[in-house]
Amino acid sequence: MEIPPRPTLFDFHGVPMTRYFTDNWENVQKFKARPDDIVLASYPKAGNTWVSYILDLLYCRQTLPEQQDSVPLFQRVPFLELYVPGFLNGVDGANQLTGFPRIIKTHLPVQFLPQSFWEQNAKIVYVARNAKDSVVSYFHFDRMNKVQPEPGDWSSFLRRFTEGEMVFGSWYEHVTGWWEKKQTRSNILYLFYEDLSEDFDRELNRLCSFLGVSPSADSKKHVTEKVLFNNMKQNKMVNGSTNEAFDFNVSAFIRKGNVGDWKNHFTVKQDEEFNEDYKRKMKNTDLHFRTIL
Ligand code: A3P
Repeated sequence: MEIPPRPTLFDFHGVPMTRYFTDNWENVQKFKARPDDIVLASYPKAGNTWVSYILDLLYCRQTLPEQQDSVPLFQRVPFLELYVPGFLNGVDGANQLTGFPRIIKTHLPVQFLPQSFWEQNAKIVYVARNAKDSVVSYFHFDRMNKVQPEPGDWSSFLRRFTEGEMVFGSWYEHVTGWWEKKQTRSNILYLFYEDLSEDFDRELNRLCSFLGVSPSADSKKHVTEKVLFNNMKQNKMVNGSTNEAFDFNVSAFIRKGNVGDWKNHFTVKQDEEFNEDYKRKMKNTDLHFRTIL
């Protein structure tokens, strides 16, 4: 695939986006959900790949085991709004899935999720990650991903993150928007990256009970091993190595996988300013994140 120049951000119904996530908008909005679909939603860099692989192993390993070693995860779990002409079309990808249930990835803010998912009461797993590790991970991702806007240097990236000038908009609005929705809908499970890192077994059990599945102890062991950070990093079907837009000379896709990597990036001054601003932006929510374990 010939990689075009990096895209630019523009305002899309109040949210900064690039054309790769808006060019197929009508089809995204018209998407026909099924009651048994599972949506995996998150702001970018919250651990979506991690949880999508867990879901894939919980379900599709049973129905399509041969795909595990031959079909990249991004095809097994299509990214609904992603549209790179001639290369990737998330809507078509989802419609062509043969496994059951369909697991569908999205980074859409809550107000943009296609209506049909609400009408069908599909199960939605939302994964959230603390802002500081999210911005660090996003910075390295935008450096290596040639279909994202130019990241610029770290300090300008951090400033734009606090201003919400990122693809998929403001982290603050994204995590709180989905959190508010969760208060009124029982079909949403809200997971935290930090909780998964702290106690994977506990979170896997929470996930399974939300989904209404009871895997055997052996299956759980298998999932737990497959999704270990180092195993995912080595696994060509999940580590992004099949994605031509990624430049692995710049950074890895499955990069560090830590809680607290922000400490290696934020200066003391940046941290103080960020905390002040964070308090202001998050003062009206009871949503709390841990930035260290
Ligand atoms: P880092 O850049 O901090 O390492 P997403 O999949 O939503 O793009 O999120 C990417 C982040 O999740 C990256 O964070 C990546 O390393 C981390 N990640 C991916 N797989 C993981 C795993 N198995 N365990 C812990 N973190 C993982």
